[in-house]
Amino acid sequence: MSAGRTVTLRDGTHALVRPLCPEDVDSVLGLADSLSGEEKYLRFFTAHPRYMPQWADSVTASAAEGVSLGAFDHGELVGVANYTPLPAAGRAEVALVVAHDQHDRGIGTALLAHLFDIARRNGEHHLVADVLAENHDMRRVINDAHVPVTWHRDGSVFDIDVDLDALS
Ligand SMILES: CC(C)(COP(=O)(O)OP(=O)(O)OC[C@H]1O[C@@H](n2cnc3c(N)ncnc32)[C@H](O)[C@@H]1OP(=O)(O)O)[C@@H](O)C(=O)NCCC(=O)NCCS
Repeated sequence: MSAGRTVTLRDGTHALVRPLCPEDVDSVLGLADSLSGEEKYLRFFTAHPRYMPQWADSVTASAAEGVSLGAFDHGELVGVANYTPLPAAGRAEVALVVAHDQHDRGIGTALLAHLFDIARRNGEHHLVADVLAENHDMRRVINDAHVPVTWHRDGSVFDIDVDLDALS
């Protein structure tokens, strides 16, 4: 299992952020089960995604393309952030989800910060995401991350693009 980074959350407690591995698949399924229909909709664009087992496999696969990180609080998986390379070199798609009863603790912020660092070190130049306009929580987390980001609204969705090269 790869080493991780201990992060300090908003309330001063600590969590471990580390790459996910195949042994984490049940924890990922448990986190997915914890989500409300609205949270699933915000993350997967459908309130009833049928591909949770495939998603759990993909973020925990040892040969996966890209990087998937989990945040663990006393061994419990409380958040997942991942990026997947896109066909255009140096670009990857990022996604984030935090367990239902763990929001507003700083977990999403910590996961994204670690993922941005890793993506930059791995030679990615841009991380992009589709964020629903109604997803104010995610929009705030990105704004509060103080990263160079462009927002392009396309109907109900913002296409966001984080310029990793411009990160200080
Ligand atoms: C969007 C989502 C990932 C945010 O995760 P989260 O862990 O609740 O977010 P955080 O706790 O990091 O951030 C929430 C707030 O804490 C603040 N915060 C985070 N870390 C902090 C710290 N160390 N000290 C002080 N404040 C902190 C953030 O600035 C933010 O503040 P605000 O609400 O006043 O603007 C979560 O709500 C979620 O899983 N939603 C459903 C799925 C989803 O929408 N995914 C995104 C799809 S694109």
